[in-house]
Amino acid sequence: MSGNLATVSYIGATILFILSLGGLSNPESSRRGNLYGMIGMTVAVLATVFGPRVTMAGLPWIIGAMVVGASVGLYAARTVQMTQMPELVALMHSLVGLAAMLVGFANYIDPAASVGLTDAEKHIHEIEIYIGILIGAITFSGSIIAFGKLSGKIGGNPMLLPGRHWLNLAGLLVVIYFGREFLHAGSVADGMTPLIVMTVIALLFGIHMVMAIGGADMPVVVSMLNSYSGWAAAATGFMLSNDLLIVTGALVGSSGAILSYIMCAAMNRHFISVIAGGFGTTSGATPVAGAQPAGEVVPISATETAELLGESKSVIIVPGYGMAVAQAQHTVYEITKYLRGKGVNVRFGIHPVAGRMPGHMNVLLAEAKVPYDIVFEMDELNDDFPQTDVAIVIGANDIVNPGAQDDPNSPIAGMPVLEVWKAKTSIVMKRSMASGYAGVDNPLFYKENNRMLFGDAKKMLDEVLVALKS
Ligand code: TAP
Repeated sequence: MSGNLATVSYIGATILFILSLGGLSNPESSRRGNLYGMIGMTVAVLATVFGPRVTMAGLPWIIGAMVVGASVGLYAARTVQMTQMPELVALMHSLVGLAAMLVGFANYIDPAASVGLTDAEKHIHEIEIYIGILIGAITFSGSIIAFGKLSGKIGGNPMLLPGRHWLNLAGLLVVIYFGREFLHAGSVADGMTPLIVMTVIALLFGIHMVMAIGGADMPVVVSMLNSYSGWAAAATGFMLSNDLLIVTGALVGSSGAILSYIMCAAMNRHFISVIAGGFGTTSGATPVAGAQPAGEVVPISATETAELLGESKSVIIVPGYGMAVAQAQHTVYEITKYLRGKGVNVRFGIHPVAGRMPGHMNVLLAEAKVPYDIVFEMDELNDDFPQTDVAIVIGANDIVNPGAQDDPNSPIAGMPVLEVWKAKTSIVMKRSMASGYAGVDNPLFYKENNRMLFGDAKKMLDEVLVALKS
């Protein structure tokens, strides 16, 4: 492939990536967005592999690596459970970081990479390598820890070392000092020591940064690492002088940064205080901190739930992580269809951090073919609860916790929530009284107009559907 054709393909791929991002901003156009992304990536890979910078001798290596990578990717995509998706995404981010690190070291060792460069160009190239490895190492180790936290292999408790901000500052100063040493190194062998020291510090910083972030702040971490992986890819693009990688990395980096901002707004948090760490507590089971709610918990049966639903004129369904665990989305839609057929106004209320990854609930509802026009964001629906007969909470907990509004000592104080308790009756579907991801007890369960439908969401909804139809 000629250099010109490769350049034109790169421009085409860039346009497709931008169209892809545009498409992904709306559920209705998201399929098209995905398609643009896939075509763009195919064009980009083909133009790179068959482009002027790959020699014939290198091709078997590239194709071999692609076969191995594609097989692992295909296997993972086919076998991974929907509930493990966030972990998979975190793991993939770590690979981008690892790639940036390895490319950086390879680039530094490769004598051909600096042939023909002037002194100034060589320095710029070395700065690219240093920064690329730095971002790559932070992304790599941070994503591995995020994977551990999301999969429950590492507890959700924030690890708060004494003087942690000073530790981070000291790390930064050491990295700057060794950066200077690296740039003044006389040979590759001399430069290796500062490069390795910086890599170790960056790896430790990545671990420390994510370990210090508590359970409730994980949504921001997921999107932040997404952004870092983009900047790591952009840094790799600079090292390899590959324009497409720079543009693509910048697109991922900046869209991830915007997503982090949206996540922070959804949780009413400042980005800096999230990064500083310590907010949110454990990842489940035992309730902690904040006032302990008191009162009586009133259980309800599936048949009684069906009766209430049958008598309603308007229903709001609030799905959460438990719906993903139970894979209840298809039954939810069956019930929705049935009720809509009887003239009931059924709508879905989606919290921005429901589930375990951005857009988690939207993906599940789209999979079950729930029409987009009855799926609303939290802000669009929150004022409607007082005029709603029944609000059904399916496997959600933190996102409907009134303590976020009423209890200033709650670890999730200030986080906007769906005000389901303002409906005439709210019904919470979950298996036990256990807390959600943030580990906070939920006063909603004890409210007078609240009922608890205990059991696996899929099983209970199946029973509700049978009772509705009989
Ligand atoms: P959670 O607060 O985690 O609550 C989920 C509830 O589902 C649990 O209390 C659990 O109670 C119930 N559940 C689990 N399996 C179930 C099943 N098979 N059937 C019925 N219920 C089941 O979820 P949420 O309300 O969606 O809130 C999301 C939380 O995750 C927030 O704290 C958010 O910050 C955090 N988080 C979000 C993200 C993103 S990006 N969305 C990423 C990381 C963390 P039982 O065990 O009693 O059944």
